[in-house]
Amino acid sequence: MSSFQKRVFSGVQPTGTLHLGNYLGAIKNFVELQKEFECIYCVVDQHAITVEQNPAELRSNTLEVLASFIAAGVDYKKQIIFQQSSVAEHSQLAWVFNCVSRIGWLNRMTQFKDKAGKNKENVSVGLMVYPNLMAADILAYLATHVPVGDDQKQHLELSRDIAQKFNNDFKVDFFPLPEPLIYGNATRVMSLRDGTKKMSKSDASEFSRILLTDSDDDISSKIKKAKSDSDLIPDNKDQLQNKPECLNLINILSACSNESIEKTLVSYAGKEYSKLKNDLADKLIQVIGPIRTEILNLLNNKDELNKVLDMGSEKASTIAGPILKEVYKIVGFR
Ligand code: TRP
Repeated sequence: MSSFQKRVFSGVQPTGTLHLGNYLGAIKNFVELQKEFECIYCVVDQHAITVEQNPAELRSNTLEVLASFIAAGVDYKKQIIFQQSSVAEHSQLAWVFNCVSRIGWLNRMTQFKDKAGKNKENVSVGLMVYPNLMAADILAYLATHVPVGDDQKQHLELSRDIAQKFNNDFKVDFFPLPEPLIYGNATRVMSLRDGTKKMSKSDASEFSRILLTDSDDDISSKIKKAKSDSDLIPDNKDQLQNKPECLNLINILSACSNESIEKTLVSYAGKEYSKLKNDLADKLIQVIGPIRTEILNLLNNKDELNKVLDMGSEKASTIAGPILKEVYKIVGFR
């Protein structure tokens, strides 16, 4: 493991405007990691089409995710940001991994079971082999570290299993076993309407989430309407465990202020929700406002964004091309 150069890879699906959960749980970390690592961030459109997508929306969502990366502070000149479908090595390596990975492994993936539900016979094959493509994304760059949310930990373990089996089967020490990087308080931002459910782009209520493109007024009114209770705010973390909505608001404020939950609680213990909500709305406007302005600016110049994508794919291919060649040699293609 130590012989591998440290490299970060992560992917975000272009399936809708990004929200606060995507920002605090993923993109904010992407920005931090640039200080320490060489980073490759990918808009994974091939993962998105494992379920039905509207082509025009997919195209515009791809640019929106890219704009969000840049607006949040990912340095596209120094790092690599690009679109998955424009670097063929991902699908090429995924095919090899389709032959390394086992059906039994994929059948155990809880996300597949959840998404397929009772409809298992009628979902796309892509949805099932999705984790093999994810392994290919990471390992096409011999990436060693992968920032992911909780829900992707199992898929990352599968990537390690694939890397390990490939190395064993072909008696090589070729792929690193990529490690998860899970940071900060707010890896799980919950719905503003139900503190037990993750904030999600598919929730029916717009008031459940804050989008990175929301106006200051949207942010204020969503926070004001966020579910709470009629008690005062408790003074310790234990009592927050059965107040998921309160915990969520405190958690979001802590993450935005780079403070621990305990430290944030000190300022609000025994106070009313209105104070917490006012401060949280102010803080969010301060954090998201500049990002929103920059996203909208960037989206006004789509040619520029497409150039960024072209440059990113070129840099990505320069790394993934030679690695795929080696893989082809190892499996006996040439
Ligand atoms: N499956 C991830 C998700 O839905 C996205 C993803 C695709 C990814 N390829 C990846 C994440 C590689 C980390 C590394 O969130």
